Amino acid sequence: MATTPRALRLDALAYGGDYNPDQWSEDVWREDVRLMREAGVNIVSLPIFSWPQLEPQPGVYDWAWLDRILDLLWENGIAIDLATATATPPSWLLRAHPEMRPMDAEGHLLEFGSRQVYCPSSPVWRENVARMARAMAERYGNHPGLALWHISNEYGDHVSRCWCPESARHFRRWLQNRYGTLDGLNEAWGVNVWGQRYTAWDHIETPKKAPGPGNPTQLLDFERFSSDAMLELFQLEIDVLREVTPDIAVTTNFMSMFRDLDYWRFAEVEDLVTDDAYPEPADPISHVGASLNYGLMRSLKDGQPWLLLESSASATSWRDVNVPKAPGRIRVESLQAVAHGSDGVMFFQWRQAKYGQEKFHSSMLGHRGEKSRSYRETKALGLELQRLEPVRGSRVRSRVALVVDWDSWWGSSAIESLPSQRLQWAQQARAWQRALYLLGQPVDAVRATGPFDGYDVVVAPNLYIADAAQSAALTAFSEAGGTVVVGPFSGVVDATEKVFDGGAPGPFRELLGIEVDEQWPLRDDDTERVETAAGTFANVVWSEWIEEDADVEVRARYGSGELDGHPAVTVRAAGKGSAWYVSCVLDDEGLTAVFRDVLTRAGIPARDQVDVHLDVVTRADADTDYTFVLNHGRDPLTVDVPAGARDLLTGQTVADTLTLPRYGAAVLASPRAGAVPFLTLTTTTD
Ligand code: GLA
Repeated sequence: MATTPRALRLDALAYGGDYNPDQWSEDVWREDVRLMREAGVNIVSLPIFSWPQLEPQPGVYDWAWLDRILDLLWENGIAIDLATATATPPSWLLRAHPEMRPMDAEGHLLEFGSRQVYCPSSPVWRENVARMARAMAERYGNHPGLALWHISNEYGDHVSRCWCPESARHFRRWLQNRYGTLDGLNEAWGVNVWGQRYTAWDHIETPKKAPGPGNPTQLLDFERFSSDAMLELFQLEIDVLREVTPDIAVTTNFMSMFRDLDYWRFAEVEDLVTDDAYPEPADPISHVGASLNYGLMRSLKDGQPWLLLESSASATSWRDVNVPKAPGRIRVESLQAVAHGSDGVMFFQWRQAKYGQEKFHSSMLGHRGEKSRSYRETKALGLELQRLEPVRGSRVRSRVALVVDWDSWWGSSAIESLPSQRLQWAQQARAWQRALYLLGQPVDAVRATGPFDGYDVVVAPNLYIADAAQSAALTAFSEAGGTVVVGPFSGVVDATEKVFDGGAPGPFRELLGIEVDEQWPLRDDDTERVETAAGTFANVVWSEWIEEDADVEVRARYGSGELDGHPAVTVRAAGKGSAWYVSCVLDDEGLTAVFRDVLTRAGIPARDQVDVHLDVVTRADADTDYTFVLNHGRDPLTVDVPAGARDLLTGQTVADTLTLPRYGAAVLASPRAGAVPFLTLTTTTD
C-alpha cells in the first residue's frame, strides 16, 4: 500500500491533449514533438482507442510502435497520461462474442462501426478489459514518463444503460443484494399497484419498453444499477492497476454534469478527478453553466485540484452546427477552468484528424499545421500558463454550496408518472447556480448529507428523494448559523419512491416550517406572477399550495392564478441560521431577486449590478489569494481591485480598478484576506 496519496506526476500545471500517433507516420511524430515543445505541452493522453492496433489478434500484441512514441515523448520531456486502451473493443473480440453487444430499451442490439460497443455487465468484456489493463500495466508500469493512468474513456458517453439478457441477470443480482428477499423487493417496489407482484427472481427484467408507464421504483433502481455496473467496470481496472503499479494515480475522464453516472461514487475510488468540458461556442454565456460543472469537479474530491483533461481548441464536430470559438475565447475559457481549480488545461486533441468521425473537430494543431489559428492561440496559452505556476495546488474559496444528488436527479427524470415533466432537476440546478453566479458567488457542489464546513449558504434546488440523514445534516448546518435554501418538489418520496407520511416536504418539514398541500404545476402556455419586496416576477412551470407555521416569514407570495395571495417563498429562523423554501420556478430575474434577499440576510456580498460576462473566482493557498477576473464578453468590463494586487499574467501591480478588454483575463495575487475577495463591477456597457 502506498503511504502517500497518489497524485499526477508532473511538476507544473498540465498542458497538452489527447494524442493519436497511430493515425500518423513517424515523420509526423517528430514534428509533433517539436511543436508540442514549442507550445509548452508537457503531457499527452494516449493510446485511448488503440486496442486493435496493440492487440491485432487475440493474445498477439504489437507494442513496438507504442514503445517508440512513449520514448520519443519522454525524451522530449513530455509526460504520459497513459490510457489502458479499453475504451472500445477490437472487432475480433466482438465477433467472437456477439452477445457482448449492448441492447437498447426497445430490444435492438447496437452494432460495431463506432466506439464503446459493449455491455457493461458482459463477463467476456470484463475479463478482457482486466487482461488488457494488466498487459498495459506490466508493459509500461515502469516507464519513467508514466504520470497518470487514464482508464477507459468517458464512461457512458455512448452507452450508459444496457437492457440485454446479461444486464437483466446482473440487475437481478444487484436487486438481491439490495433487498435480500423477493418479499423485500415486492415491498420496495410497491407491487400491489397495477398488479406488479413478482413470484420468482427471474421474472424481473430490465425496464424495457412496456405498454404504459413503468413501475417508478423499478425505473429508479435501474438507474442506480446502471451507474453501479459502470462503476464496477472502473473498479475492476483500478484493482489491476493498483496491484501492478501501486504508486501511479488513476483517473477516468468525466463529462461534467452527466446525468447517468453518480460521480460522487466514481470520484471516491479514483485518485484524481478529470473532466472533459465542451461549452457550446455558439452560446455567448456557456461559461455560466461551465462554472457549475467545474464547481462539481473541484468538489468531488473535497476541494482538491482537478484537471481539465479535454476541451476544444475551437469547434467540436458532434453538434448539429459546430461554430468555432472566437479569437481569445480559447484562452478565457481555459483560464476559467484553472480559476475553478483545474491544475492545467488539456484539449481534444493535439493534431486535427485527417480522416474518420472527428476530422472536422478542432485541435491544438489544425489542418494548416503551425499556421493554424488554433495553434497560434494554444501555443500562446501554453506559454502564458507557465506564469500561473504559483496557483498550482491552491484551492477555490466559495461561500455557497449547491446540493447535487443523483438519486433525486434520476427520480425526477426517469419516471413517467409525475405532477409535471417540466420540472427538471438539471434545469433547476442550473437556474439556481445562474442566479448565484450573477450575484457574484461561485458555487461548490455538496452531497445532501454534507459536510458543509466552511460554507455560509447551502442551496438544494431539488431534493425529490430525501431521507432523515439529509434533514439532520441541513438542520445541524442551520442550527450552527448557516443558511439553507430548499427548492420546490423536495422531500417528496423516500429511497423506494414512497410518499412521506403527511406529504412534502417530508423530513424537511420541521426545518422549513411549511407543509405542501398540493403541487400545482403550470400549463405550458401559462405564466403566473410572484410578488417580492423587490418587485413582481414571472413564475413558470411550477407552484405549490403551501401552508406555513406561525414562526415562518413569507418573503414572496403568488400574485395571480389560483394560488393568488398564497406564500411562494418563505424563511424561518432555524437555530442561529435560517431555512428558506422556494416553492416556485422563477425566471432568472425573479430568482436573482430571491437569492439577493437570501445572500443579503446571510451577510454575504451580492452584486447590485450584474453582468453575465464577468466571472470572478478566487483560489488560495495558505498565504495568497489568486483572484481570477475573467471577461467572457465582447465589451470591456471594469472592476475594483484589492489594494496592491499583482496580475500574474502581466507581472504588473494593478491600480484601484481593472479594465478587461473583450475576452480579457487577469489573475490577481494578493495577501490572503479573511473574507473571500469580492470584486465589484464599477462600469458596464450593457
Ligand atoms: C469526447 C471524447 C473524445 C472526443 C471528444 C470530441 O470528449 O472523449 O474522444 O470524441 O469528445 O469532442
